[in-house]
Amino acid sequence: MRDVSPLLTAHDIEEKVAVLAEKISRDYKDKDLVLIGVLKGAFVFLADLVRKLTIPVTIDFAWFSSYGKGDTSTENIKRIVGIKTDIAGKHVLIVEDILDTGFTIKDLLAYLESFHPESIKICAFIDKHERRSCQLAADYAGHRVEKGFLVGYGLDYAEKYRHLPAIYELKT
Ligand code: IMP
Ligand code: MG
Repeated sequence: MRDVSPLLTAHDIEEKVAVLAEKISRDYKDKDLVLIGVLKGAFVFLADLVRKLTIPVTIDFAWFSSYGKGDTSTENIKRIVGIKTDIAGKHVLIVEDILDTGFTIKDLLAYLESFHPESIKICAFIDKHERRSCQLAADYAGHRVEKGFLVGYGLDYAEKYRHLPAIYELKT
């Protein structure tokens, strides 16, 4: 493993997910909510989040990818797999591992808006600010950081470290 420093323990993460789940359950009570997990990174967070919700939800995934093998973000987002659920007239919550430049979510938002949902909001476990290049913000954020490249809890570096139960910052 490369040199890393711990950022959030599994326990810290669990507490933060519980806070988010409580807010989301309250805000979407009696609403028809579709969660769209952004692959691949969001699979761990989404799995934890849904098990803490107290409202029924529908779950789907979209696979939008911006990264090559390393840690350089790009504006060239590829839609690899789209959604299967009919979201017209429904409330959609995008579930992301990390919101960084915003390019991925910007493209995903445009794609989802084409299906005319009632509303779309963004839930990112990590909200990372320094490189934000699009005018968008997370409606729900588990943890805010200014910068740094993070791994673990779904987040990868060149497809490694996604399985780690805690979050670490890669040292440069
Ligand atoms: P954005 O398009 O720059 O907002 O980046 C979103 C995607 O980039 C995320 O879904 C991640 O896959 C990846 N990403 C951005 N920052 C990090 C990081 O610190 N660690 C791992 N992946 C990251
Ligand atoms: Mg990634």
